Amino acid sequence: MTFSSSQIKVFFLILLCGFSFITAQELKVIQLPQPQTETGKPLMQALKLRQSTRSFDVKKIPVQELSNLLWAAYGFNRPEAGRRTVPSAMNWQEYTIYVVLEEGIYVYDAKSNCLSQYASGDFRSQCGAQDFVKTAPLNLLYVADFSKAGKASEDDKKLYIPADCGFIAQNVYLYCASQGLGVVVRGMVDRTKLAETLKLKPEQKVILSQTVGYSK
Ligand SMILES: Cc1cc2nc3c(=O)[nH]c(=O)nc-3n(C[C@H](O)[C@H](O)[C@H](O)COP(=O)(O)O)c2cc1C
Repeated sequence: MTFSSSQIKVFFLILLCGFSFITAQELKVIQLPQPQTETGKPLMQALKLRQSTRSFDVKKIPVQELSNLLWAAYGFNRPEAGRRTVPSAMNWQEYTIYVVLEEGIYVYDAKSNCLSQYASGDFRSQCGAQDFVKTAPLNLLYVADFSKAGKASEDDKKLYIPADCGFIAQNVYLYCASQGLGVVVRGMVDRTKLAETLKLKPEQKVILSQTVGYSK
């Protein structure tokens, strides 16, 4: 059986449309509810309770909790000025937070208050070698883009960029303490594997990861 060139073109067009449909269907955007900024324990109590947990229940984190947590981590608290809940050296705002859930990897878009799906599937086991990482409901990956540090010296970049990550991680620790969630920040991550999975550019680096869930 032979096909004319126009039949072949139609065939490929159908294939392409089908593929785009599947991709569009698989990669979704989750609109987050408005973060609740009047919730949780007072700061001094949260500081008293802050600690690392390494034993997590599999129970998922409700979307409202996720919205609050991400806002605390890296949301805009002064949206009119484009400023966030965390400081950053020279206001580089060089971090992207990848949100790894059982169903896929998402990027936190603080401006639109949504999660844009980056990949579907369970990638939690790639977030760290410790056993609890694979089953805890949420892992956050803090990815710094060193190119956003502009003309800073290499020494300044090496010092300030990880320091900026510390503020994000501490906000997450304090939010979790104030809400009774378990959390641990982790440096032990396979950065090479994650860079592959997230298709990071050479100037982007996973600095730290943080696991969140309900303590067992
Ligand atoms: C930069 C950094 C890296 C860390 N890496 C890991 C890690 O890979 N795995 C882990 O279980 N805990 C890790 N931790 C958590 C520390 O072990 C923990 O904070 C420390 O033991 C003190 O316990 P606390 O947080 O309950 O006060 C890390 C902490 C920091 C600040």
